[in-house]
Amino acid sequence: MLKGKDFLSLKDFSIEEITKLLRLSISFKQEFLTGKRVSNILKNKSLALVFEKPSTRTRVSFQVAINQLSGYSIYLDKSSTQLSRGETVSDTGKVLSRYVDGIIARVYSHQTLLELANSSTVPVINALSDLYHPCQALADLLTIIEKKGRTKGIKMAYVGDGNNVCNSLMIASSKTGINLMVATPPGYEPKQEVIELANKFSSETGSKIKVSNSPEEAVTDAEVIYTDVWVSMGQEEEKDKRLRDFQGFQVNNDLLKFAKKDFIFMHCLPAHRGLEVSSDVLDDPLHSVVFDQAENRLHTEKAILSLLV
Ligand code: CP
Ligand code: NVA
Repeated sequence: MLKGKDFLSLKDFSIEEITKLLRLSISFKQEFLTGKRVSNILKNKSLALVFEKPSTRTRVSFQVAINQLSGYSIYLDKSSTQLSRGETVSDTGKVLSRYVDGIIARVYSHQTLLELANSSTVPVINALSDLYHPCQALADLLTIIEKKGRTKGIKMAYVGDGNNVCNSLMIASSKTGINLMVATPPGYEPKQEVIELANKFSSETGSKIKVSNSPEEAVTDAEVIYTDVWVSMGQEEEKDKRLRDFQGFQVNNDLLKFAKKDFIFMHCLPAHRGLEVSSDVLDDPLHSVVFDQAENRLHTEKAILSLLV
């Protein structure tokens, strides 16, 4: 039973539950593509989106998903709520729970999400924290299945920062049998707690998860190449140091020579052309699937909302 459950990380979901979410996403997508975009699943339900950080995809896809499921969404920029004047996260969770049927939150610290989930009586959905981005990872799994027909045994390379997107990919991969090679500059590896979780899940599914500092090694024979920004939201003060430290980690055609011929290129977006990825790779019509990933956010979020809320 998923109803009432929080969606904070894919680590809390079994492979059967992830498969169920993906199957439902596929059926929402099929309906969407045949023109049936409206259902009554969220009729008379209201959802609050509490965002501490900017967003294009997550905000719009959730609001459109809620609208197409006949629910009502309320967007709350943190600065326009009493959170900005010191009301606690816990009191906010208790109050919002008296009004709405679910809370979608984008926060700086994952701890904030845990506090919100503890104090709320309605499901809390992680719309990105410093630790995880599970909604993105679910849409990425759907994209990999569409393009490659499976997850089990796929070789994926993640090149760049061991950040929230990388952490969620490690959990998603280890749960679904993807063999993931992460390559980061020294000092930017994913958190030890996430590596340990991924190792635990992969011992159950047989997937191989490896972290190294060599982009060439990671990309060699990979079918899926993934990258994300070098400077995540909230790290702006580290920008100069990061741009120096990530030299040699750009995904460009020189690096992609090591990949399998029919590789796909993935990026959660927004991208910084000329930094983590070259423009020609991002725009390559044969290999780049970044806009399919963005579209799939809409379909997977409908599945999350309809099963949890
Ligand atoms: N990929 C993603 O979460 O994008 P936004 O920051 O635009 O929501
Ligand atoms: N790692 C990026 C992802 C943006 C969708 C960030 O946290 O800013």
